Amino acid sequence: MPADTVATFHALVGNLEHPMFIVTARADDERLGCLVGFATQMSIDPPRFAVCLSHKNRTYRRARDTTALGVHLVPAHAGDLAELFGGETGDEVDKFARCDWREGPAGVPLLEGCPNRFVGRVVWRADAGDHDAYLLEPIAAEKESGEDEFTFHRAKVIDPGHEA
Ligand SMILES: Cc1cc2nc3c(=O)[nH]c(=O)nc-3n(C[C@H](O)[C@H](O)[C@H](O)COP(=O)(O)O)c2cc1C
Repeated sequence: MPADTVATFHALVGNLEHPMFIVTARADDERLGCLVGFATQMSIDPPRFAVCLSHKNRTYRRARDTTALGVHLVPAHAGDLAELFGGETGDEVDKFARCDWREGPAGVPLLEGCPNRFVGRVVWRADAGDHDAYLLEPIAAEKESGEDEFTFHRAKVIDPGHEA
């Protein structure tokens, strides 16, 4: 692939504004989660949503074969949670000891600080390059806040726990 094509591609798509999510999972007795920007609705009927997990992240390495993921819309005021889940890695800290959460459907941890969220059953997972894409079908959803979302242009100053 020509280098200028790659550079132009990154210039085109690398700074687009979009909402951020915190994706959570459970593997055995361990709770996992990371900040995710690569995420989008994929279908209306049936409802489908895709999230991408980096191969480097503990969340992916430990929960790769999970059957369910929690997808949290991050409220605009919750920069601390974005920093915790995007700037720290579960390889070094227990993120869930530093925030309020409860167990949700399929054992997926639900973050009290992100009341707009859904739990999705994994329909399929595909290798997308340096991330895997997970197609999710919602099995439970909650919308309890009208607050705007925390978006990429604020999140990009966070130093990721694992570089992509
Ligand atoms: C702006 C931004 C966007 C990110 N987007 C993603 C993403 O789409 N998918 C992903 O797996 N990690 C993404 N990350 C990186 C993880 O959130 C980060 O490396 C996290 O510390 C990994 O935690 P873990 O090792 O506990 O899973 C992003 C981080 C930032 C700051």
